[in-house]
Amino acid sequence: MALNSLERFVFEQSLRYPVLFRKLVRPQLYQRNHSDPELVHEAALKLLGDPVVIDTLNKHYSLLFKAPPELTIELAGRHIAPFGTAAGFDKNGDALEALSHVFGFQEPGTVVLYPRPGNPRPRVATDDAHEDLYNAQGFPSQGLDYFLANLTRYRNSTFRPRPSSIFVSICGLPPAEQHAVEFALKEMETLLTRIAPFADGFVWNPFSPNTAALSLLRKPEVFRETARLMWKHAEQKLRLVKMGPYEPDTAEATDSLKLVEAFLEGGGHGVVLVNTKAFPKDQVPVKTWGYPSAGRSGRFLKPYRLRAVRDIRQAFPQAVIIASGGISDGLDAYETFKAGATALEGYTPYTYHGYGLLAHIARGVAYHLQAEGYKNLEELQKQVRHGASLAAT
Ligand SMILES: Cc1cc2nc3c(=O)[nH]c(=O)nc-3n(C[C@H](O)[C@H](O)[C@H](O)COP(=O)(O)O)c2cc1C
Repeated sequence: MALNSLERFVFEQSLRYPVLFRKLVRPQLYQRNHSDPELVHEAALKLLGDPVVIDTLNKHYSLLFKAPPELTIELAGRHIAPFGTAAGFDKNGDALEALSHVFGFQEPGTVVLYPRPGNPRPRVATDDAHEDLYNAQGFPSQGLDYFLANLTRYRNSTFRPRPSSIFVSICGLPPAEQHAVEFALKEMETLLTRIAPFADGFVWNPFSPNTAALSLLRKPEVFRETARLMWKHAEQKLRLVKMGPYEPDTAEATDSLKLVEAFLEGGGHGVVLVNTKAFPKDQVPVKTWGYPSAGRSGRFLKPYRLRAVRDIRQAFPQAVIIASGGISDGLDAYETFKAGATALEGYTPYTYHGYGLLAHIARGVAYHLQAEGYKNLEELQKQVRHGASLAAT
């Protein structure tokens, strides 16, 4: 599907005015795709292969936003804009080139070793009033070979005015049988060795709420071992683990800190906070939801995200923290940096507001930094880390 000139004009304007995306472009996409959020997402990713769309994104972001110098951070050996795509957004690396015109980094995946369809559809639902999504996708993936073909094409392409860093989300899947953890770690080893030459880093994702077998991996000894494996096969790369949300003052909160501690002890650099939160079927706002539960994402995650970022920053002042969970405006983004985030990433908010949202968020962060007297984002981050180190001693 290619855009005609009117559609191109509207798309261009929607980058400038995200409200136009929300009120006009998004409803159109839903109308054309049977109101199925997953079909809409796939159609939108396909559009990102259109050279006209790539060109529009390139021009728009070169004009309006290209990592304002005061927001640039150093991460994994590169100076980049601290805004990225969250895992699941581009599961198979189909749109790496187009998205690299917009984002400072991307987290494609979660990539698993062998192709798997995930759960039967429909398995994604929207909650427009709250700007949330519910999903029970169950790790659909085209598998490692397919993803690697996309990643190597991206690496070898000559288009790149400003390539974004690629932190690949991966997971070995434990079968429900004996030696399951060893099996999952073996898969991780294959994923790491084959992807490492082409990636800037990895995010291990043992926290998808829709895949029960992953709970076998959520033990300190497995976190330590996985971090060691990541260090062994990707020594020069960024190595993170994705964590789930938790309620305050619970065993879940304490366990979460212990898991992160084990991952850092094993040689990991930090965390991505937070994954979706599991909700039971009767709380999913769709009458015919076919699964016992769903992972909810979007704005409602804000308190979970902020709390987790604060907790991890206090406990581990030097850890890398990438924050996600409904980050939808400049003030919210700024507060997340103040809580201790190194960089931010998103999925759900971009499905509601389009890519123009990023320029809006970036301008907001720059505004609040200046209003509070910081020269740049790195100065704020240094101060937050210093405060956390003092509190820890
Ligand atoms: C449909 C959908 C699929 C997702 N798939 C993945 C995934 O494969 N791996 C992963 O680590 N997180 C996945 N996530 C979670 C997101 O990466 C992110 O952590 C979460 O949605 C919160 O951020 P957001 O509110 O910006 O979406 C998915 C989220 C959604 C909505």
